[in-house]
Amino acid sequence: MGKGLAAFAAAWLATMGIATATPAAPAWSLLPQPAHAYPAASPAVEIADGAVVAVHGADRPQLQAIVDRFVHLLADTRGLRLHATTAADARAAITFNIDPHADVAGGAGYRIVIDDQGIRITARTPRGAFYGSVTLWQLLTPPGWTRGSAAEVAAGVIDDHPRFAWRALLLDSGRHYQSVAEIERLIDWMSLDKLDVLLWHLTEDQGWRLDIPGYPALTKTGACRNAVGLDAELTGSPDQPYCGHYTAAEVREIVRYAAERYVTVVPGIDLPGHAQAAIAAYPWLGVTGQRPPVWTDWGVSPWLLKPDAKTLHFVDDVLDEVMRLFPSKYVSIGGDEADKQQWNASPAVQAQMHQLGLANMDQLQGWFTGQVAGHLTAHGRTPVGWDDELVAGATLPAAEVVMSWHGNDGERVALAALRQGHDVVMTPQESLYFDHYQSSLPDEWPGQPPMATLRQAYDTVVIPHGASAAEAGHVIGVQAGLWTELMPDFARDQHALYPRVAALAELGWSPAAAHDWHGFLQRLPAELERYRALGIGYADTAFAPAFDVTAGAGDTLRVALANQTGFGTIRYTTDGSAPTPASTAYVRPLTLAARDRTTLRAATFMPDGYPLAAPRMQVLDAATLLGRDSSQLASCSHQPGMRLGGRQPARGPRPVYTMDVGDMCWLWPQAPLAGVTHVNLSVARVTWRFGDEAKDAVVRPRVGAAGEFEIHADSCTGPLLARLPLTPAAQASGQTRLGAPIATTPGNGARDLCIVATGDPRDGQWALARITFSKGNTETGVPQGERRTGKR
Ligand code: ACM
Repeated sequence: MGKGLAAFAAAWLATMGIATATPAAPAWSLLPQPAHAYPAASPAVEIADGAVVAVHGADRPQLQAIVDRFVHLLADTRGLRLHATTAADARAAITFNIDPHADVAGGAGYRIVIDDQGIRITARTPRGAFYGSVTLWQLLTPPGWTRGSAAEVAAGVIDDHPRFAWRALLLDSGRHYQSVAEIERLIDWMSLDKLDVLLWHLTEDQGWRLDIPGYPALTKTGACRNAVGLDAELTGSPDQPYCGHYTAAEVREIVRYAAERYVTVVPGIDLPGHAQAAIAAYPWLGVTGQRPPVWTDWGVSPWLLKPDAKTLHFVDDVLDEVMRLFPSKYVSIGGDEADKQQWNASPAVQAQMHQLGLANMDQLQGWFTGQVAGHLTAHGRTPVGWDDELVAGATLPAAEVVMSWHGNDGERVALAALRQGHDVVMTPQESLYFDHYQSSLPDEWPGQPPMATLRQAYDTVVIPHGASAAEAGHVIGVQAGLWTELMPDFARDQHALYPRVAALAELGWSPAAAHDWHGFLQRLPAELERYRALGIGYADTAFAPAFDVTAGAGDTLRVALANQTGFGTIRYTTDGSAPTPASTAYVRPLTLAARDRTTLRAATFMPDGYPLAAPRMQVLDAATLLGRDSSQLASCSHQPGMRLGGRQPARGPRPVYTMDVGDMCWLWPQAPLAGVTHVNLSVARVTWRFGDEAKDAVVRPRVGAAGEFEIHADSCTGPLLARLPLTPAAQASGQTRLGAPIATTPGNGARDLCIVATGDPRDGQWALARITFSKGNTETGVPQGERRTGKR
């Protein structure tokens, strides 16, 4: 806080009769947490329907637009209708004022004073006033807020400004694209968490999504791929290709919409890798002269741009159009995952490397990137790129901002980037890639491994260990990545992003000293309610009750309930009714008679009754311990599996399979096999789309023509307990239920099990939905959340 500001705050506190600055009162539930918050004990200010909002000071048209949007937002979400006026209205309950000389920190800073004169927001620029309006919206939606009622805003002073200038979300529109309307909704929501950069990833192996004058095939050919696997559900037919791109007019509209919300759209053109779609459009851009298809796999494609003069001319043309469309100072030119196999195999590329006096292909990539970056800097723009070449020991153009996604080894690569003089954006895949799944719950949505929990996102290291103060000053921000291989639609995007975006927002905006996981959790419920009012389909994963069922003494089941964060109170019912804030609070594991059939429902609540997680249900009986779904099995490699969506069945939710890509092998340690006579498996075949993972595929010899599932005891080469031929499943499009007797006596107790599918996963990998044992003739096994009847 500047000297003037401190004096102001002290004087104000004295007027209000406040002895000391205390942490923000719970009544202020702000997210991200402001830089400075001084609650006061004086009476709260009431804002009711019809309250007047006055607009004063400089930059009047922009300020008026900000206030109009604030008034709309409040009416839409809060049901309060305010009345904006430009007249010097003495009755104004809320005043917005832009004063270029105000004692407010930076252009994005603002001050809010709440006292017996009403609420006054002061900023030096429209941007600051916008952030002030967002905070005011949050002040008017405190914990427990209800639509339509008057708002009470606790008195005090908030003096706020962001920690970092770059508070970003990367949106991958290459793998799956989003409509203009969806992107605009996302930008709107981003701005309400005070994020200010949308890194729009527009070109990929799987689709080139931006019209470029003079190169019509980029979108005619490069924006369409065959509708393989689940893409056919999006297009309606495997014969209907998956196509989509953005016109110049659409891009301009998105850029304009974002600018109104103080979000900069930074375009992302990935070079020289992730360019297979461009080469599919213009094979001369590639090394081999061949035309590849637009890729339908995920992973790292071997198709690289040829780093010659003709390609550089093309790239200049692309970037010229990009610079025409996007006013952003920053332009991302990618540089990640450039697999050099085609360059290495090409005599022409080898010759170019030698002619340039370069020692290896990483240096050649560095040279190519330097040429591209030079074109941007010559036009006054700043190149942005990934940290991969630093991982490979090469350098990047000095002017380039480095997005560091390799967060392993104590942020070693980010530190190296800082020490080479780069500005750095921290985007470690380990915690800020929001396409990674959020939990190991059976109802977790599809996502990449490994897990990235809300807490991991919140605890992201934003200043690399070992950075000096000067080096730390070159960390310009944080960025989350929404890569969309497993995100085919906007519902999936929202579930992956929220509420982890709230953690990102706080990393990017709030001072390091405000980092407080428990405080963040306390402030989250009001934010979740705001998300709800905005229509955001957020994940309640961090609070969802998980059922841990084990064998109790005698013929009982012991059920422990917990949630990932340990936040809130889990309440449950055993009569099938929906839990309410008045239901029994969970305090210790439950003991249930196994012979009874108990329907256990549990949900998580705040002390004031606010529901943190929707009810989860499990039916518990003698069969419960005899079945597991794939989320409850380990992979044989002991690596965390991918959560892959299956085909949408005619009825019920889409299945999600936990699987180790390339290895159709699961472990169930200490399975309770005493007395079991029969096994059932629910299996489905998923389309192989895993590109470069093909080389690690584990192929097991088949016995029958269609292959089979096998269950082995003790180890994967141990005694065969059952073999289930896949013939009935081979032609099915969804799940198939296979059954077999247990051929050998498994012994009396628990055995380690290895469950494998034979054959080659690259022909279509078998996924295991569920394994269930039964005793005698009884069909058993009830997946969590539902009892399935009939044919699926
Ligand atoms: C990346 O995740 N390939 C930047």
